[in-house]
Amino acid sequence: MGIVAESLKIISEEEKNSLDEPMVSVDEHNAGTRKLYIESYGCQMNFADSEIVASILRNEGFSTTSNQDEAELILLNTCAIRDNAEQKVRKRLSSLSPLKKNNPNVKIGVLGCMAERLKTKLLEEEKMVDMVVGPDSYRELPNLIAEVEEGHKAVNVFLSREETYADISPIRLDSNGVSAFISIMRGCDNMCSFCVVPYTRGRERSRDAYTIVNEAAGLFEQGYREVTLLGQNVDSYKWENADKTEKVNFARLLEKVALIHPELRVRFSTSHPKDITDEVIYTIKKYDNVCNYIHLPAQSGSTRILEMMNRTYDREWYINKIDRIREILGDKCGISQDMISGFCSETEEDHQDSLSLMDYVKFDYGYMFSYSERPGTPAAKKYADDVPEDVKKRRLNEIIAKQREHSHINNLKEIGKVHRVLIEGFSRKSEEELKGRTDQNKVVVFPKYNFRKGEYVNVLITACTTGTLIGEVVVEETDLQKL
Ligand code: SAH
Ligand code: SF4
Ligand code: F3S
Repeated sequence: MGIVAESLKIISEEEKNSLDEPMVSVDEHNAGTRKLYIESYGCQMNFADSEIVASILRNEGFSTTSNQDEAELILLNTCAIRDNAEQKVRKRLSSLSPLKKNNPNVKIGVLGCMAERLKTKLLEEEKMVDMVVGPDSYRELPNLIAEVEEGHKAVNVFLSREETYADISPIRLDSNGVSAFISIMRGCDNMCSFCVVPYTRGRERSRDAYTIVNEAAGLFEQGYREVTLLGQNVDSYKWENADKTEKVNFARLLEKVALIHPELRVRFSTSHPKDITDEVIYTIKKYDNVCNYIHLPAQSGSTRILEMMNRTYDREWYINKIDRIREILGDKCGISQDMISGFCSETEEDHQDSLSLMDYVKFDYGYMFSYSERPGTPAAKKYADDVPEDVKKRRLNEIIAKQREHSHINNLKEIGKVHRVLIEGFSRKSEEELKGRTDQNKVVVFPKYNFRKGEYVNVLITACTTGTLIGEVVVEETDLQKL
């Protein structure tokens, strides 16, 4: 059976439920009486932003709910990365239309990247929307809500050069209580020709390093055991204190977070092949709790296409980075990719270059997409979107098939090895099984015994599927009572 997805992520079956599903806010019982329902689309950074929004609105007497019908304010935090991401939001808005008709007191706001991209046009096109708020304007939400309550439509899509929400303590909306995401920077200065993010998120800026370390330390105290440091291009993180006596780059930041506690795992995403440094790779090597896993989007294996994409590296540079990672970390380091099929003018030969790059690296998993032209981007202005849809899809399917093959081969290699796994909760199928992740970010499922989420456990891998490892717990004699 052929897969005819517009995009696909080869990850664990354990995560399939959440694939492409929006994140929905949880029920809070200890906060204000006004009810807020937030649904978040797109990347982890957007999810993290919704947690900032919930925190800002808590001060206005709002508590979050998972039930849209009891909310007085419904917010959709949107993504604009591909056309289908926006279509999904349009459909969702239409589905909210009857609710709004039945109860005109319900206010609907569109936040995030689609709000920023479309600005007031969104109010004209989607009549049920009361408020349009871009990613740097969330502190203005209380004023914007007040405007809406006075019967006006409200818009703020101002992009800032400074805003990092550094002082706001996010309210965890979708948390297993074990792993959390921390935004360390905002925006992107890279201008990859296909990408809308520089227009929706603005200029790159790094958050105060000490607020990041404090947030991570606070999470550890609350029982969290893993943090993922988030940015569009984490390797260009750069911060200095007010009197300019301390400069912190990404490697130094990783180290600061790693030093909080050896039992706190540290992950990060996304690395850009042009910016990841030896210093970062050596920091991964130096600290056991900095995970051996790098998400290193390639986008294409063809130097000609990479140049048109303005990725600022070529095939050889990418391969050299992979070689360097493996030289320093050995094959212990998990590596994943993003790949785009059918970018402007892509030939069969360019496509074969992408496949052969995958053969060279044998990525552990990947996020794969067919090219979707975004209005206003350099590619939309300069190049024709000239690869026919069916060719894009066929190439995407070939990329997906290859990734499946490699994911499976890599997982088979884990059989017989013991991994230290951080337990995240029950497996999707059964409350008799737990799931967790290895250092390399591979999902492992194993029998529960008396182990609990948030604990580390050694697991012997005995079997696998394309996306999941299956194992048996190995315990020290002193821990036999756990079995
Ligand atoms: N900052 C990250 C990526 C952020 S967007 C990086 O530089 O790698 C996530 C992924 O979406 C990208 O890596 C790319 O593979 C994909 N993507 C972005 N714009 C796209 C477009 N116009 N069409 C298809 N895929 C796109
Ligand atoms: Fe987009 Fe490129 Fe920035 Fe990633 S690095 S967010 S792909 S412009
Ligand atoms: Fe989408 Fe914006 Fe993230 S476009 S991928 S939500 S930065």
